[in-house]
Amino acid sequence: MSYLFPTYAKKEIELTQGNGATLFSKDGSRYLDFMSGIAVTNLGHGHPGVIQALHKQADLLWHGSNLFHYEAQEAAAKLLVENSVCDVVFFCNSGTEANEAAIKLARKSTGKSHIISMNQSFHGRTLGSMAATGQSSIHAGYGPMLASFSYGSFNQIETVKDAITEDTAAVMVEVIQGEGGVHVMTQSFADELQELCKEKQLLLIIDEVQTGMGRTGKWFGYEHVALDPDIITVAKGLGNGFPVGAMLAKDHLREAFHLGSHGSTFGGNPLAMAVSSAVMNQLNEPGFLEKSEATATFLMNQLKDVTQTSSIVKEVRGQGFLIGVETTVEASILIKACEEKGLLLLPAGVNVIRFLPPITIEKEECNQAVSIFQAAIRECTEALN
Ligand SMILES: Cc1ncc(COP(=O)(O)O)c(C=O)c1O
Repeated sequence: MSYLFPTYAKKEIELTQGNGATLFSKDGSRYLDFMSGIAVTNLGHGHPGVIQALHKQADLLWHGSNLFHYEAQEAAAKLLVENSVCDVVFFCNSGTEANEAAIKLARKSTGKSHIISMNQSFHGRTLGSMAATGQSSIHAGYGPMLASFSYGSFNQIETVKDAITEDTAAVMVEVIQGEGGVHVMTQSFADELQELCKEKQLLLIIDEVQTGMGRTGKWFGYEHVALDPDIITVAKGLGNGFPVGAMLAKDHLREAFHLGSHGSTFGGNPLAMAVSSAVMNQLNEPGFLEKSEATATFLMNQLKDVTQTSSIVKEVRGQGFLIGVETTVEASILIKACEEKGLLLLPAGVNVIRFLPPITIEKEECNQAVSIFQAAIRECTEALN
């Protein structure tokens, strides 16, 4: 009997060490990591620059509260601002907290409370971001949900228009629905959404918790569809595994989060800031994201090639290193088969397998993963016949 709440279906693997895209377990097995946590360790395990930044800061100062200035906090915020369309940053510790901050800022700055998010979205597990999440399975047992959320359908602008009321403050959306099955925002939806927000004076909140920090081949997913959000939330890849989240906003929202209006004991702590800056400096290395995006295209094409005649693969889709393979069989069957062959993958719903390797991965490792996946598909297809 475990001392832990059984909130996760844990694998029978005890991880002990990691290096780049390779994970080692207690029993001596090695795995190709195409999960990156859950889209977290974008720079792979044991990234030297990130480790060095953490060690250096650990020797200097761990914590001193947000009642003092830290150069590291300003430096990390500056990097986020310089590489986004936003101007001001609030640091917290996770994706759900970043979204809570976004919800609060949207309410406070507009004086309105209604927010439209999307069916099949995922925004987190706290009461606000759970209500924003358009999945009844996530809500089950926790009702009543926080009032003033309603849901449109992703990539269907009419459903968003229909949901607007006098009290609508914002639209909150992912550019790729990650947990919801790897659905990519269409350019036409992005254009219509931007126009709608402008016309109705709604804030546009983009949840980049999964898509941000280079995951899609660019700093942020919204860049692919040229959106201009008022608020952006990030976490996951920002700390490469060190807990950190951030909410970024345009300058016109700065004063709404005035003195004492929001806070976090640990948000923006020196350790998280040192790590985040190291991660962001790596993203800014000349050619780094370009190489990553090219390798991601290579992986996507390989996956399309080896699955195009498969009777159990319906579609390969995604952007950068957020790739989903939709199958006619349960994703868990193929994921288990790959795991037995040393490849770790994630599901996104019942029928979608997510490929989320570190964005630093090499082509050779992609080839290995594709071969394993191909073998698992072959075995599964044979078993069905
Ligand atoms: C798009 C998105 N938003 C928010 C979250 C919640 O982040 P966290 O688990 O850090 O609270 C997730 C986590 O999977 C996510 O994918």
